[in-house]
Amino acid sequence: MGLVTLKEILKMHDGAVGAFSTYDQYSAQGIVQGAEELSLPVILMIGSGPLNKPGNDYVGQIMVQLAKEASVPVCVFLDHSKDDKTCLKAIKLGFSAVMIDGSHLSLEENIAITNKVTEAAKALGVSVEAELGALAGIEDGEEVKQAKMTDPEHVEKFLSKTDVDGLAVSIGNAHGLYKGEPKLDFERLQTIAGISGETPLILHGGTGLTLAQFAKGVELGIKKINIGTEVKKTYIEAFIDTHEKNVSSYDMVEIPQACKKAVAEMVKEKLEFFANGWRELV
Ligand code: 13P
Repeated sequence: MGLVTLKEILKMHDGAVGAFSTYDQYSAQGIVQGAEELSLPVILMIGSGPLNKPGNDYVGQIMVQLAKEASVPVCVFLDHSKDDKTCLKAIKLGFSAVMIDGSHLSLEENIAITNKVTEAAKALGVSVEAELGALAGIEDGEEVKQAKMTDPEHVEKFLSKTDVDGLAVSIGNAHGLYKGEPKLDFERLQTIAGISGETPLILHGGTGLTLAQFAKGVELGIKKINIGTEVKKTYIEAFIDTHEKNVSSYDMVEIPQACKKAVAEMVKEKLEFFANGWRELV
């Protein structure tokens, strides 16, 4: 199937599509492998921070290559770019979707930067995600202390003045590990879903949410769920476990393979639930 846009992938089934953060070749391969083993579409994403690290254009190139060779639909996605320059860089690398995150700006400024990126992206057939409201937690290595829930009135205005393929919402979700039990404002989500119409809604901060919360979110119209921290945790725990089994070997061949496999297993569990399993909990 290969490389597809966000617009295309979010229409492929009536659940939500899992979007997983990648950082290197092995996590990227694990994510695609998990999707292939289930024959389900997947979104392979990298944050603008990791993509902009020296030498990491190669990770972007690997992501695009993996998507092109995959037996399932794969959207290659730039996550949380606050500037149009990184969006253009990702588009040049061959990404099929970018997120321009103007959620820290005023509504007018957010609309303006979103339109600037959308104009360039759409001319090249690339999808765009935007965000309204702000999530607390660690985003691209930087701490956002103050969350701001998405204002439904802003949703109406924003969507009438932009042409985005997905809208990320802030309903109590947070990036990174939750401090205490996460509480999501489903009433707010329902109101937003009543306004957003055909525009798919996106849930960031998937690590640490419960299956019941995922299911309710999907029922109310969430079409893409982002998982970042859980990829890192799965990968690093597999790395440490495998190394500790034979400390003196420093096995640079088998350790990354174990990390890849562990990521693939985690991805399978999530993808299956987001696509199908959620129905049993609503
Ligand atoms: P988590 O790290 O909390 O899973 O969030 C990932 C995310 O939303 C990336 O945009």
